[in-house]
Amino acid sequence: MFITFEGPDGCGKSTILEEVYKNLMNLDVPVIKTREPGGTRISEKLRNIILDEDNKELTAVTESLLMAASRSQHVEELIIPAINEKKIVLCDRFVISSLVYQGYARDLGIDKILKLNEFATLGIKPDMILFFDVSEKNLLDRRKKRNTSDRLEKEKVDFHKRVYKGYNYIKEKFQEDDNFHIVDANKGISEITSYCISIILDNYRRKK
Ligand code: TYD
Repeated sequence: MFITFEGPDGCGKSTILEEVYKNLMNLDVPVIKTREPGGTRISEKLRNIILDEDNKELTAVTESLLMAASRSQHVEELIIPAINEKKIVLCDRFVISSLVYQGYARDLGIDKILKLNEFATLGIKPDMILFFDVSEKNLLDRRKKRNTSDRLEKEKVDFHKRVYKGYNYIKEKFQEDDNFHIVDANKGISEITSYCISIILDNYRRKK
């Protein structure tokens, strides 16, 4: 089963992914965790290029192609084999991130980025997309508490506003899809973790 965690920087998805991973391990459920951009040796190299704050001249189109290249390597080398071994794959970010950041915030167009990603992902789709929905105020408060370190996090306030709007746009567009699950990320860590585990196990048992 392939499960992706999506949401803006600071929404808490990486913390919850870690918690969900630990809980599933304790339940002896076969599970692996991975992230994008990255997840394999080559994809992590591409991640370093993408997030390097010295790479200020990186164009939006190049950025979208590097994200897709990193994803394609990740899908073929790690995600598909793990799914074939009947593992649960927990992935921090996937196609939705490209639709929001490159398609919407960088203004390259959602449809174009969707097509690019259909090619890059070899047609695989997440069984579950956990969409971390958080108020703009909570997001800004959480972001103030952490160090901004990479090229994308250092983008101007205006870019992050567009990212936030992009997530709302995507939520409207995909919320009726069967694999799209909205997670109320304004709640506390333990409550969000329990909710995610319950819907994951529910889907897992139904698929088995
Ligand atoms: P992430 O590892 O989630 O950042 P952090 O752990 O610091 O929260 O993601 C790195 C950045 O890459 C993040 O700002 C979102 C961006 N990104 C895209 O713009 N497009 C994509 O397709 C992906 C996967 C990430």
